[in-house]
Amino acid sequence: TTSFTSVKTLTESPNFNSIPSSYTYTTNPNDENEIVVDPDDENDPIPVIDYSHLVIGTPDQRNKTIHDIRKACEEWGFFMLVNHFVSKSLLEKMVDQVFGFFNLREEEKQVYAGKEVMDPIRYGTSFNVSGDRILFWRDFIKIVVRPEFHSLDKPAGFRDTSAEYSRRTWKLGRELLKGISESLGLEVNYIDRTMNLESGLQMLAANLYPPCPQPELAMGMPPHSDHGLLNLLIQNGVSGLQVLHNGKWINVCSTPNCFLVLVSDHLEIMSNGKYKSVVHRAAVSNGATRMSLATVIAPSLDTVVEPASELLDNESNPAAYVGMKHIDYMELQRSNQLYGKSVLNKVKI
Ligand code: SIN
Ligand code: FE2
Repeated sequence: TTSFTSVKTLTESPNFNSIPSSYTYTTNPNDENEIVVDPDDENDPIPVIDYSHLVIGTPDQRNKTIHDIRKACEEWGFFMLVNHFVSKSLLEKMVDQVFGFFNLREEEKQVYAGKEVMDPIRYGTSFNVSGDRILFWRDFIKIVVRPEFHSLDKPAGFRDTSAEYSRRTWKLGRELLKGISESLGLEVNYIDRTMNLESGLQMLAANLYPPCPQPELAMGMPPHSDHGLLNLLIQNGVSGLQVLHNGKWINVCSTPNCFLVLVSDHLEIMSNGKYKSVVHRAAVSNGATRMSLATVIAPSLDTVVEPASELLDNESNPAAYVGMKHIDYMELQRSNQLYGKSVLNKVKI
């Protein structure tokens, strides 16, 4: 195992009041998207999808929801999901358990420090410490929970809570992908079948962003898009997520009892770019500690992800991405600098 200095440990050192220069983040000068605006633009609000209408609604409600999903995936690559049937108490328990992990003694956490992208459990900091030119203000724990379930041994109760949470979110993701299949004009089980979700990959990725004394100088997560089909994100009531929409960074407010759904790279590829994965980043603050928990819903590792032939047309809509095995895509992401759509661009034709 490799040990490292976590951001949490750094901030807890005596008299800590400024960030080491290795964390100084300067935005890419080629990046023109540096305006941050609030989401409450009445004319273009963040889309909200009512999950109950999708699964127990009237045919009219379901049709309207599928229409709204299409619009959200085309225009934002992002939406908020409400009435999702995952209980508030389970969400709260899961957030508590993740904090329980980050609050263990550093030696207990470093047991999981590794550097292989396919390690089923991996504790780390920044993105890829050995390769990052600058460090990000973030510690993380990633746990593969499907097709095989893995769990931390501590804190007590983590196993049961994460098992229940994983089951619920997997079901939610799979149902949503049925609606998404239909929204693309494909049969309801199209994505489930072609992405081999029966043996699909599910990963929990928890991020901790301790208070930062110079928040304007550091970044929790740089702009990027996620691998997989969907990312179902929750947070601890502290905001920090920003999504890129029409060339502007939109602050996503803290959202109790709601999932933030991010369209991810494999959905962009299989839809041949009709749906775009959302570019997002995590800002930090000098206020409260922020925690976010991502649940990645992804094809099985041996699935070759490529544009759906049903959506292609030789003349008007030729394939825009080459097919690539999911596991190779993950390796490409690990060996890459995390920036914007730099991984996705490598499979673009
Ligand atoms: C992520 O990029 O998956 C995490 C973003 C966040 O912390 O909100
Ligand atoms: Fe992400």
